Amino acid sequence: MLVYLDGEYLPLERARVSVLDRGFLFGDGVYEVIPAYGGHPFRLREHLQRLDRSLRAIRMEPPLEHRQWEEIFQRLLAQGGDTDQQLYLQVTRGSYDKRLHAIPAEVHPTLFVMASPLTPRDPELVERGMSVITLEDLRWQRCDIKAITLLANILAQQEAREAGAQEAILVRDGLATEGTASNFFLVKEGLILTPPKSAHLLPGITRDLVLELAREAGLPCREREIPVEELAEADELWVTSSTKEVMPVTRLDGRPVGKGRPGPMWQEMDALYRTCKIRLRQRAMDSCHD
Ligand code: PDD
Repeated sequence: MLVYLDGEYLPLERARVSVLDRGFLFGDGVYEVIPAYGGHPFRLREHLQRLDRSLRAIRMEPPLEHRQWEEIFQRLLAQGGDTDQQLYLQVTRGSYDKRLHAIPAEVHPTLFVMASPLTPRDPELVERGMSVITLEDLRWQRCDIKAITLLANILAQQEAREAGAQEAILVRDGLATEGTASNFFLVKEGLILTPPKSAHLLPGITRDLVLELAREAGLPCREREIPVEELAEADELWVTSSTKEVMPVTRLDGRPVGKGRPGPMWQEMDALYRTCKIRLRQRAMDSCHD
């Protein structure tokens, strides 16, 4: 398998970065995960805009134009034919000749991209629904940046696994923010709710798509802050991400959510999402709404 590293296409085993890379030393970098269906990246424009936003937020200029990224993606995706794949893209600030917290004036970013098979959602888990726990959010104040520094997310995800759950919903100042690697939605009496964008959560591309699909289909939805207690009273809970898509959550902190099985609103949203993917495969467009 070939990957892209700093202008070169090379076998994964030969892709090497310096131990002085600031990504390695400090977690000084940002990333994106972009699904590609039938060889076509999903919501590409939105992912690349978020990448540029993350870069600027850490005081880096975007190193490539969107069409240059696109060329790299096409070349890597071609290796997988029209199978479903995921692109992982990482930009770090690069390596400097010594370990220095301050940002050196002369440093060149490290660019890495790989395409790998998209692990299909576990059909049994989709059928049964996920288990989720709530945990205190121990992360920093800029969770809107898609930074590679994911230690707090990793520890929270591990805690969820050890509690027999698949994801944790994080809570800050009494408000539920997002999952360790997902956004979340709640349904109460026919209304779809999700927290508004803020520095405390990642502006998920799937989150935006779900809101768009809901609005198009005339499903009532609203963005507002969600006190953690409301989770336990929800009729339905969903988590969303580029790789999970829209997953139903049927257990929260060991208790059933709503009727304890994936709900009717989730079924409707999942069907809308699937239609969107089929349209992308057939018409090779970047979003559902071109
Ligand atoms: N993570 N919130 C966090 C903290 C995330 O890490 C992710 C995705 C999301 C959902 O964003 P999107 O819908 O754009 O995928 C929300 C990716 C998939 C990952 O780290 O692998």
